[in-house]
Amino acid sequence: MTRKLKKFVDSLPIPETLKTRRNTVDGNYYEVRMQEFFQKLHRDLPPTRLWGYNRQFPGPTIEVNRNESIKVKWINHLPNKHFLPVDQSILDPKLPEVRTVTHLHGGETASASDGYPEAWFTRGYEEVGPFFKGEVSEYHNQQRATMLWYHDHAMGITRLNNYAGLAGAYIIRDKHEKSLKLPSGKYELPLIIQDRSFNRDGSLSYPMQPENASNDLPNPSIVPAFTGDTILVNGKVWPYLEVEPRKYRFRILNASNTRGYRLHVDSGQPLCQIGSDGGLLERPVMMNQISMEPSERVDVIVDFSKHEGEEIILKNDLGANASPDDETNEVIKFNVTKTLSAQDKSIIPKRLSTIPSLRQNRISTIRNLTLEGSSDKYGRPLLLLNSKKWNDPITENPKVGTTEIWSFINTTGFTHPMHIHLIQFQVLSRQAFDLERYNQDETIIFTGPPKPPEPNERGWKDTIAAPSGQITRVIGKYGPYTGHYVWHCHILEHEDHDMMRPFVVIDSE
Ligand code: C2O
Ligand code: CU
Ligand code: CU
Repeated sequence: MTRKLKKFVDSLPIPETLKTRRNTVDGNYYEVRMQEFFQKLHRDLPPTRLWGYNRQFPGPTIEVNRNESIKVKWINHLPNKHFLPVDQSILDPKLPEVRTVTHLHGGETASASDGYPEAWFTRGYEEVGPFFKGEVSEYHNQQRATMLWYHDHAMGITRLNNYAGLAGAYIIRDKHEKSLKLPSGKYELPLIIQDRSFNRDGSLSYPMQPENASNDLPNPSIVPAFTGDTILVNGKVWPYLEVEPRKYRFRILNASNTRGYRLHVDSGQPLCQIGSDGGLLERPVMMNQISMEPSERVDVIVDFSKHEGEEIILKNDLGANASPDDETNEVIKFNVTKTLSAQDKSIIPKRLSTIPSLRQNRISTIRNLTLEGSSDKYGRPLLLLNSKKWNDPITENPKVGTTEIWSFINTTGFTHPMHIHLIQFQVLSRQAFDLERYNQDETIIFTGPPKPPEPNERGWKDTIAAPSGQITRVIGKYGPYTGHYVWHCHILEHEDHDMMRPFVVIDSE
């Protein structure tokens, strides 16, 4: 039983920036505590029970400068029981029910601090997983300026911990970006988009079982996908934002479990995209619409200067017409009602950055990686990578410093956002093949030439849409660290049900 909520009655909250506990010679030290708390997500909803970093949903924004190392102590202060339905059938039932481990998504992070799914820990570090490497994570921030995000990554319950609220933004700044005079300060805002469903009492609603589940399914049982009927931005249901008639820079993140979006503004103007997951593009691209799979980020500039007095809605036209009462076709409303406080001196440079192509590198390995459907022992859909489960031996083992091409061969019926930890990669191409034929005898017959990536995908990416019946090829240099990492589909309901694999970066000797 969900309830209809009036749109655009709450103003957009901006997550606060995390304050340091101490500055030491070797960098700032932070402590972040995961806690249960209640927060009002809409004017007409009672406060919602959530789990958040420092009692905030989304978590506080971590802001750092490039090449400045920071340390973060992630503290689990959560209850021992989950408030969302934990499926014991997809994991070792002896595991403690509430486990957490924080991953910095898109970060070039040493293995020990990357948030390996089996590096989980419980409240007060009472119990820890086999890969737990210590209470404090270190982030060296040597990559270019961009918006990353941190979120929970605990084995088998990532979908639930994220849905409960464990996610936040992480912004790396650098001198080059500052020199560009992009809109900044109060004209640069994160937009963290998530979908949720609510019960009448304001509590989060998440299915106990798939719809029409048979009696022999475990209860609770994981669902193959989850989309909520309500869209939130920065933790508010369908908020509005009052803006001045000038340029704004929006750092957009799709932090939803399964839902993808295709965004445009209803004022008819294109969105000017200046950055992708891993930082600025080479030059701005004008996009009539922007697709965002879970975990993708886009950096866009919207110019409101010719729209004084207007109301402009950021619209979504992906999966938003499922039923007549589906309201997920709208995200946020911009009211251009503020008076211009000063002349807009920000600019959109024609040239934003230089992106050295990895194509010139020597390719040491090309890996063909299938995305495929099967079913588990209860007959539930089970999506796998290379026909392997999480626990199967490691098969991807790039040598540190080498360049590889990974080809995601999607043999399933829908798009999967594929994500690789540690690196930012470049998209080489997508190429369609005959899926029907593949399903008969596993032969790949191409039905067209390789297509170059979309203009807004020609920058650094860490998550990429791998559409059905296509091979999506990405090129990446594996380093600078060695050790254990993971690659997976970023639909959290897939990731938790074995659409995730470990990989290891090995020494070059
Ligand atoms: Cu957003 Cu494996 O992570
Ligand atoms: Cu990641
Ligand atoms: Cu998937």
